[in-house]
This record gives sequence, structure tokens and C-alpha cells, in this order.
Amino acid sequence: MTAHVHVTGWGKFVPPRVLTNDDLAEMVDTSDEWIRTRTGIIERRIASDGETTFSMALHAARQALEVAGLKPSQLDLVIVATVTPDYTFPSTACLVQDALGAAHAAAFDLSAGCTGFIYGLSVAADLISAGTYENALVIGAETLSRIVDWSDRETCVLFGDGAGAVILQANGANGGLLSTVLGSDGSGGKLLYVPAGGSREPASHRTVGERLHYVKMRGREVFRFAVRTMPAATRQVLGQANLTLSDLKLVIPHQANQRIIEASARSLKLPPETVFSNLERYGNTSAASIPIALCEAVEEGLIEQDDLVVCVGFGAGLTWGAAALRWSMPLPPEPPSRGERIWRELRYLYATLRSLVRRFLRWLFARGIKE
Ligand code: ACO
Repeated sequence: MTAHVHVTGWGKFVPPRVLTNDDLAEMVDTSDEWIRTRTGIIERRIASDGETTFSMALHAARQALEVAGLKPSQLDLVIVATVTPDYTFPSTACLVQDALGAAHAAAFDLSAGCTGFIYGLSVAADLISAGTYENALVIGAETLSRIVDWSDRETCVLFGDGAGAVILQANGANGGLLSTVLGSDGSGGKLLYVPAGGSREPASHRTVGERLHYVKMRGREVFRFAVRTMPAATRQVLGQANLTLSDLKLVIPHQANQRIIEASARSLKLPPETVFSNLERYGNTSAASIPIALCEAVEEGLIEQDDLVVCVGFGAGLTWGAAALRWSMPLPPEPPSRGERIWRELRYLYATLRSLVRRFLRWLFARGIKE
């Protein structure tokens, strides 16, 4: 269904600030040994004050556009998969659209927990296949550190911040996105959720006092759900594309827990080196984890032209999803010339000026109406 829609650009951003297991052991009753053996995580990146989901998404998006050799003005669609948007509204996708100067793009956020990026890929690829759009930017970006309870050792050791992005485009070459699988089971919604801050329980002194605006998780049940779902979704997405596990070059799983990744690999009878992991450096970055991992796998030369890759994830909702893609980009991409880089910077400067002028005109117009 989505044949000939290709990933033509990729990019990632993680904040420079590192929080190690030892740092966490000074904050809550935990230890490096517990975190390493139970999760595989050694450190994670945490956004500093000025960094937000939007700013990280923008960095990743700019890199992805650069690799694809695409101008922001050529984008038709911007999707940001996130559970930690800068605002309830406007969407983070609109902030990215404006900052890029993607003047002709539709933009929206997508909430599907850690599966958000796979959902975004599927939606964007279908819109391209249908002929509605030509060039889409799909981003997974999260600032989970802002919704994690730093006094809850059962959750705070797991999460980190970051963003990853891809450009999707249709062209005549074979391969690209071959099939996608999306699933949900809302009956498990409360296994992993933020109780307050939405319209059901608006933020109040009471909800803040009771720490209800932070992530709550029933870890063991999520674990069981994950090890059941990831292998099943991988098999299903391959079956849909008339392929088998033996055709696989690499699985890029959602990076939540090394034991989940290894249990999934065992269940699929895949050798460990077939399953990518960078969990030890970033922890669980939710919707950002798969695009960051995809980006690193490409940068590390683990994916080459014509390789078959499956991205597979699970998350809050509950949701799950998988995407099978035949990598079609020659590697490494040509680095941009100095002239191209200067043009690119000028274009982003123009986007900032354009946004400022539009805000100013809107302000002037509003004053005119008042007077
Ligand atoms: N440090 C030390 N001890 C801890 C910690 C900690 N950070 N956290 C829990 N413990 C203790 C528990 O209190 C418990 O103690 P008890 O036996 O005295 O009661 C003991 O360790 C074992 O706890 P379990 O919950 O059984 O530990 P488990 O081996 O299941 O590991 C974990 C917990 C890491 C959370 C695991 O269940 C897991 O990874 N689950 C999946 C979580 C996940 O993937 N979430 C993301 C979903 S994606 C999204 O949409 C955001």
C-alpha cells in the first residue's frame, strides 16, 4: 500500500546535558547496578531550561531536510509525534512549521505514546501514496524529563529527552516503506498515564500537591505487554510485505528496556546483533526513540542500500506498531557545500523574519480593530 514512499532524509538531536545512574542514586533510593541490570540504561540526556520539545524537533528536522536536499518551502506536511508538546495547543508541529518557514505545509501533532513515530510514518506514507502530498516531515520528539516525577524511583530512572526526524518522499525507485501495522488497546490506558492536567482533571493546587501531573506506570504489566506485542507486530508487518524474518537486516525496536529488546529478539529467534540498541546512552525517549535509533544505525553503517529494516514499538494507549522498509538511499549522503550551508542559514533567517513580520501585522491589525 505504501510502496515507493522512501525515507530520503534523517536527523536527530539529543540535549548535551547527561544524567548518569550515579547522579540518580543521589536523588532517589536506587543504584547504578539496579538500573543497569533491570533496564540496560547507563545514562540519559535531559533538556536544559531553554530546550523544549519544539527546539529539539527543529534541530532534528533541519538535519533531515539537509540530508534530503529539500527546502522547507517544499514540505507539504509536518507531523510531530509527542506526548510532551510545548503547549496543549498550538501543536508543536505548527511551531516547527513556522520556524522552518514551511509556508505550504499542513501541520499537526500525533499522540500515540512511544508508538507515535510509527503512527506518524504510516499516516504520512498513506497521504503520499494517495497523491495528497509529495514531501512529508515526520518527527518524534519528547521532553519527558518535564513530566517525570523525580521522586519516583520506579519511573524517573527510565526516561530521557531527544528528537528524531525523517523526510518521506515518493519516487519511482523500488523499495521504501513496504508495509505498516498499527494497533491499540485502550483498556490498558491506565497502565501508563498522566492522571491530571487534561480536561478530565484540570491542573489545580490539589492535583499538583498529589503529584497527579506526573507519569504513573504499572511497569511489570507494561513489560509483559511489550514482550508479547513487539514480536507479534514484527511478524505481522513482514507477513504483510510477503517477507520473512530471514530477509531482515536490522530491527529497530522502541528503546524502553534492554530486557524487553532481548526477550523480543529471543522470541523471534534473531541474533542479538540484528536488533539495534542505544538504550544505554539515552534511556527511553518515547516517540523519539525509534527515529533517533534509525538515525544512529544509518550513521554507524548498519543499514545499507536495499537492506530490509523493521521499526517496531509499543507505548501508552496502549498502542503498538511496526513499519517494514527497504532502505533505498545510497550512503553516505553528499555533504552540502559551503554555499549550500550559507543559503540554508539565510533561508532560516528569512523564516524567522517572516514569522516576526506576520506577528507584527497581526498585532497592528488587532490594534486597528480596537481603535
Ligand atoms: N531502584 C531500585 N529498586 C527499584 C527501582 C529503582 N529505580 N524501581 C523499582 N525498584 C524495586 C521495586 O520497588 C521492587 O521492590 P520489591 O521487590 O521490594 O517490591 C523491585 O525493585 C522489583 O520491582 P519490579 O517492578 O518487579 O522490577 P522489574 O524487574 O519489573 O523492572 C521496570 C521494573 C524496569 C520498570 C520494568 O518493569 C519495565 O521496564 N517495564 C516496562 C516499562 C516501559 O517500557 N515503559 C515505557 C512504555 S513506553 C511509553 O509510551 C512511554
